[in-house]
Amino acid sequence: MIQVAPSLLSADFARLGEAVSMVNTSRASMIHIDVMDGMFVPNITIGFPVIKAISTIAEKPLDVHMMVAEPGRYVDRVRDAGAEIMNVHWEACTHLDRVIHTIRDAGMRPAVTLNPATPVMFLRDIIRELDMVLLMSVNPGFGGQSFIPNTLRKVRELRALIEETGSETVIEIDGGVNLSTAPALIEAGADVLVAGSYVFGADNPHKAIADLIELDV
Ligand code: DX5
Ligand code: ZN
Repeated sequence: MIQVAPSLLSADFARLGEAVSMVNTSRASMIHIDVMDGMFVPNITIGFPVIKAISTIAEKPLDVHMMVAEPGRYVDRVRDAGAEIMNVHWEACTHLDRVIHTIRDAGMRPAVTLNPATPVMFLRDIIRELDMVLLMSVNPGFGGQSFIPNTLRKVRELRALIEETGSETVIEIDGGVNLSTAPALIEAGADVLVAGSYVFGADNPHKAIADLIELDV
């Protein structure tokens, strides 16, 4: 069954509590939170105090996507803010193995994100340590961008790597997910779909989430 992770980046930040309540009462599996530092990506968004506030009302696990340089510096702060999953970019970690083990030791589930131009095979020697791999299907930094079709080939390649290595890593996709792009992603082997503008731009976000899940039945 496909899982949906609504991205709060496309929510109305003046009504963030209402957005979290919507996700709580929806069929979403987790809440995706995009942290940006203005260095790794050309945008600045949510930080630790806001994640902490979200965690006090969230009833679903927080999937924190760290679009920051050297995210290993922030493992304890992400954990203390209430994250269950800490998602770090392959491109942002000089010592990825160390960061992954630090995240696990801190009590969170480690995940690694790949930018659109980063090959799946760069994960071969770390895949067994990862609870989740996030494939970016847009260049990170902004919501509402168009899906990059080459992602489908990467999903199939990642699925093959997971099977070959006997790992239980979950495949998550982020960027340009909607009812048009989701079917091929599900078919290719995605497990979790992040959706920002598709969910929060919908007249009925509950239905938008349910419609994605229903594609898979
Ligand atoms: C982009 C973020 C995404 C973003 C997706 O850098 O990582 O999570 O919110 O937005 P949509 O679903 O609108 O492409
Ligand atoms: Zn994201």
